[in-house]
Amino acid sequence: MRDPHSIVITGASSGIGAALAETYAGVGIHLALTGRDRERLATVAAACRQRGAEVTAATLEVTDARAMSGWLCDIDRQQPIDLVIANAGISAGTGGRGEGEAQARAIFAVNIEGVLNTILPLLPALVARQRGQLALMSSLAGFRGFPGAPAYCASKAAVRIWGEALRGELKGSGIEVSVICPGYVESTMTARNDFPMPLLMPAPRAARIIRRGLDRGRARIAFPWPLYAAVRLLACLPPGLTDPLLGRQPR
Ligand SMILES: NC(=O)c1ccc[n+]([C@@H]2O[C@H](COP(=O)([O-])OP(=O)(O)OC[C@H]3O[C@@H](n4cnc5c(N)ncnc54)[C@H](OP(=O)(O)O)[C@@H]3O)[C@@H](O)[C@H]2O)c1
Repeated sequence: MRDPHSIVITGASSGIGAALAETYAGVGIHLALTGRDRERLATVAAACRQRGAEVTAATLEVTDARAMSGWLCDIDRQQPIDLVIANAGISAGTGGRGEGEAQARAIFAVNIEGVLNTILPLLPALVARQRGQLALMSSLAGFRGFPGAPAYCASKAAVRIWGEALRGELKGSGIEVSVICPGYVESTMTARNDFPMPLLMPAPRAARIIRRGLDRGRARIAFPWPLYAAVRLLACLPPGLTDPLLGRQPR
């Protein structure tokens, strides 16, 4: 959608979400931002206000369906929402020790239920208005299961497939759906990684690429293209060929 005026971004207190908030901030724009860290969220909100945006910021847990629904529906009543970016997410590696139950469940809860809790409460209002755009944050890690991050890859695959299906489901309803699949982007999430991250890019650059894709209503915003090509190739080759290669990846 070109020129959305009322925009919701989850996970806006750092990384890609913060960069997206600043990319969209401007005069005549209302931003509804969430995260958990009050201080970091307030800093992002202040930077967006500096750019002329009106900002509503709330510290919320995306897994809290009732709190998310209440907040989103309130915002929508006051500033009918044009664009929702379901961005909040977490990741964790296995450290070579395997993935514990608590870690796997937490990743699925935040990355999948958090996205559902962001999109579903708003869908009826958007459908009634026949207008709006949904952007779901997946990842290039959602095209193939990588041994170092089973739950993360699976959660991002679920989000990607759900978004693709929703796009078809909502075709003709006036609602656009885009799935975002970044490669490595500088953020709190990637700052912990102690392995080489090919084509790592700064968050503001990723945010500009995402905004350009959303302006054009692209179905899939996957970047950078060499890494996208590599994961597509890995995904379509037989596991017998690719498993030994991926088995050598850092955990
Ligand atoms: N960085 C990458 O290379 C990369 C690549 C592909 C996809 N992604 C995806 O991009 C999204 C943003 O990640 P990022 O890299 O920008 O990481 P980040 O800097 O760690 O940001 C994650 C954001 O999500 C919020 N969040 C996490 N758990 C939450 C919860 N339970 N409830 C509410 N908010 C929660 C965080 O809030 P607090 O910090 O306030 O807790 C933070 O604002 C994620 O979905 C991630 O999977 C990232």
